[in-house]
Amino acid sequence: MLITLASSFELTFQCLKRRFFSIWTSRISFVTCSSLPKRASLRAFSFVLSFALIVIALTAPAIMAQKVELSVDVSKTGAKIDRNIFGQFAEHLGHGIYEGIWVGPDSTIPNTRGIRNDVVAALKAIKVPNVRWPGGCFADEYHWRKGIGPQRIVTLNPNWGGVIEPNTFGTHEFMDFLDQIGAEAYISANVGSGTPQEAAELMEYMTTAQPTTLAKERAANGHPQPFKVASLGLGNESWDCGGNMTPDYYLSQMKIYSRFVRNFNPAQQDKDQMLKIAVGPGGDEPRWTDWTEAVMKASQQHTWSWDINGLSMHSYTVGHWPPSFASTGFGETEYSQILKFTLAMEDLISKHSAIMDKYDPQKNVALVVDEWGAWYAPSPGTNPGFLVQQNSQRDAILAALNLNIFARHADRVRGANIAQMINVLQSMIMTDKEKMVLTPTYYVFKMYVPFQDATFVPVAFDAGTYTHGDISLPRVDAIAARDKAGKLWLAITNLDPNQPLEIEASLTGITAKSAVGETLTAPRVDSVNTFDAPNTVVPKPVSAKAQNGMLALKLEPKSVTVMSVEQ
Ligand code: AHR
Repeated sequence: MLITLASSFELTFQCLKRRFFSIWTSRISFVTCSSLPKRASLRAFSFVLSFALIVIALTAPAIMAQKVELSVDVSKTGAKIDRNIFGQFAEHLGHGIYEGIWVGPDSTIPNTRGIRNDVVAALKAIKVPNVRWPGGCFADEYHWRKGIGPQRIVTLNPNWGGVIEPNTFGTHEFMDFLDQIGAEAYISANVGSGTPQEAAELMEYMTTAQPTTLAKERAANGHPQPFKVASLGLGNESWDCGGNMTPDYYLSQMKIYSRFVRNFNPAQQDKDQMLKIAVGPGGDEPRWTDWTEAVMKASQQHTWSWDINGLSMHSYTVGHWPPSFASTGFGETEYSQILKFTLAMEDLISKHSAIMDKYDPQKNVALVVDEWGAWYAPSPGTNPGFLVQQNSQRDAILAALNLNIFARHADRVRGANIAQMINVLQSMIMTDKEKMVLTPTYYVFKMYVPFQDATFVPVAFDAGTYTHGDISLPRVDAIAARDKAGKLWLAITNLDPNQPLEIEASLTGITAKSAVGETLTAPRVDSVNTFDAPNTVVPKPVSAKAQNGMLALKLEPKSVTVMSVEQ
């Protein structure tokens, strides 16, 4: 076939040459190629031309690989990238907790004290620093006493589908789960429908080492030692599902919780003190900037009796409410639109950070993006209240871009929790009875583990532009950091779904020999992992040699690559 086409191309080319020559020599009459009859010659020519155009179109990405120069000067270090920006969020919502984590001790699914072993093993591998629990909106209707002891109170989950909430997964089960995966607790207090007394008693129950009645009850329920509560959320979206409060009303409530909801754990009095995270903004409109202003202004004027350590921020990549983007079965248009929406995280953080800087230039109060991620239309056939969606290569790119933004703001953003860990929204893991599958987002979190608590190193580059229709995005995004052992790590995302990218990274301050790591890409922007095909989107090893302090890498289209630089 190729030979036929080549010879036909050659024939037509010769013919054209002769025609051109004859025009050039002013021969007026139309000269036909002696070897091709006129009509056949034209047909062959148009066929070959179309074929050539198709070939050019198909091979264009390879031919047109773009080049981007990165320059990394390891002597210019920035803030520590707090490992807590890799936090997770697990709400009592759909199958996030029940079936996702908890199957009960009598389940045929392998478990340890009711907690599924496959999920624990997968989460251990991504070194989850903290898990925010029990909500979300659920937290402001959660009454902890219903979830402890041998007799659990069965209630409803009015926020999420109005289903039965058995309360079999309560405080002890959550803390056991954290122990098993090696993460810390970020508990959301019920400010909306609870009382300061209820929240204070939860903290006494969980944290005191003294033999109080609540501590004895905790011991009787199986945990004599105090629990460690690393962070406490003082409400959730109190401007909306958490009670529709005005900033002033919220502040009056929040100060009471900050004052009376104490952590008594002896190991958390001097160092490792529990962080109190106030409710913060949910967008960039004036009502959110007003909210940030109000809380930060109050915090600047705080007295000895109350304080906050963090301001929460929620920002989903949703496009439009109600969520309508499909999580699979989409094309480049939806890919580029969603990435454009997600990159708005940069401006949102900058905007609220600027307000925080006015009242807290020392950056004592952290910005904690404790709900973020993609929120799409519910998967067809699922309970819309369960927020089930697929997770594709687009989500892997989205996750990397957001983690990069958080890392660039590491001096202020010291916590973030992707929504949500299992079976809900942009999850790490999906389960179906005994089956489990890891999502593309999971793999990004796994590849980024070396960035936990690493020191940010600025990277200079001209990102170029990837354009689709009327959307223009940076073609590339990159961050760098040095881990505790001094090793340099690079994370580079090629947003362009069609073009590979040639990277030339100049590294100043170290003598690089090579780089090794992993890259995550997929056949299509909407490629997903399923229970039947769990390895469609998995990382594969990559390596590169360095010459004269310069690393040359070729990145695949729509890929996330993380590499360590070997010296
Ligand atoms: O993550 C789902 C919901 O989104 C949370 O419960 C709520 O805080 C937010 O609006």
